Amino acid sequence: MKEYNVAIVGATGLVGNTFIQILEEVDFKIKSIRFFASKRSAGKVLYFKKQPIVVEELNENSFDGMDLALFSAGGAVSLKYAPIAVSKGCRVIDNSSAWREDPSIPLIVPEVNFRDYSMNRLIANPNCSTIQSVLPLKALDDAFGLNRIIYSTYQAVSGSGQKGKDDLIRTLNGEEPKFYPYNISKTCIPEIDVFLDNGYTKEEMKMIHETQKILHRPDLKVTATCVRVPVLNAHGVSVFCETKKKASLEEVRSVLEKFENIVVLDDGKNHRYPTSIVANGTDQVYVGRIRQDLSNEYGICFYCTADNIRKGAAANAVQIALKLAQSDEM
Ligand code: A2P
Repeated sequence: MKEYNVAIVGATGLVGNTFIQILEEVDFKIKSIRFFASKRSAGKVLYFKKQPIVVEELNENSFDGMDLALFSAGGAVSLKYAPIAVSKGCRVIDNSSAWREDPSIPLIVPEVNFRDYSMNRLIANPNCSTIQSVLPLKALDDAFGLNRIIYSTYQAVSGSGQKGKDDLIRTLNGEEPKFYPYNISKTCIPEIDVFLDNGYTKEEMKMIHETQKILHRPDLKVTATCVRVPVLNAHGVSVFCETKKKASLEEVRSVLEKFENIVVLDDGKNHRYPTSIVANGTDQVYVGRIRQDLSNEYGICFYCTADNIRKGAAANAVQIALKLAQSDEM
């Protein structure tokens, strides 16, 4: 069985830490592992399977002899260092948004479009809210065909990294916000990432473009409203979709139940529906509140939750790596 030399870039961050945790949990054969971050963290000690590992400052030689690099250190680091890693023969799975819209770079959710990997040694990991949404949407697109999607998100503060979690805790303790523009303990904030000239935020445009790319449906009509909510971890997404073929709720439920890594929780009268609580710490996508749209006979509504740091980021990347290793394509 082949073993791999692995680099974690952004190892001291929230997603970076979760890469480490998930690599400890899964059966991915590791020969050696190195942790990289900025100069600030050089010398700090982190642990892998109880072994101390000193964090190194990232530089152009960091990828010499490496087989796999998992990146989550922001777009600028990925733009500069992912091509360097690839030039050294390393597979890169990048959690930033830097490469996602590049047509030559595959954007992968393993349950949906794993076979896109062959395009390039650099693979982009999609946006967190998009990952959890495209599992149920792929199931519905395959079965009934999709015409149109409307997303409304309820995104946890962990999506902003440690700074977001700190701001929720700080404001819950009665202190002033230092990170979000408003007191996140007292309001939802309909602003995620920067505002663009068309009135949408970059997060909303990411959901639109990434959904079309992952589903191989550039023609699909998609719109989105992304909102930060006072929840520590695990995003919710409310989805309206319009199908081409008419679908009964029983058919929709049956298609969703059969799809890999979807858990259907759909018994409202008994308070069974997706919550951030049930999704937190897991790698599944929870789907419920499945309804016929009363304003459109081809419309289906549902709500889904997932752990945005695990399935929405680190677990998705590690699942890609595991599948590459199983296919001998690392
Ligand atoms: P550091 O801790 O040294 O700043 P988060 O998304 O939770 O904020 O984490 C961001 C991660 O990206 C951290 O591990 C951070 O390291 C790392 N990072 C930020 N800037 C750089 C850089 N210029 N080079 C390498 N790693 C970086």
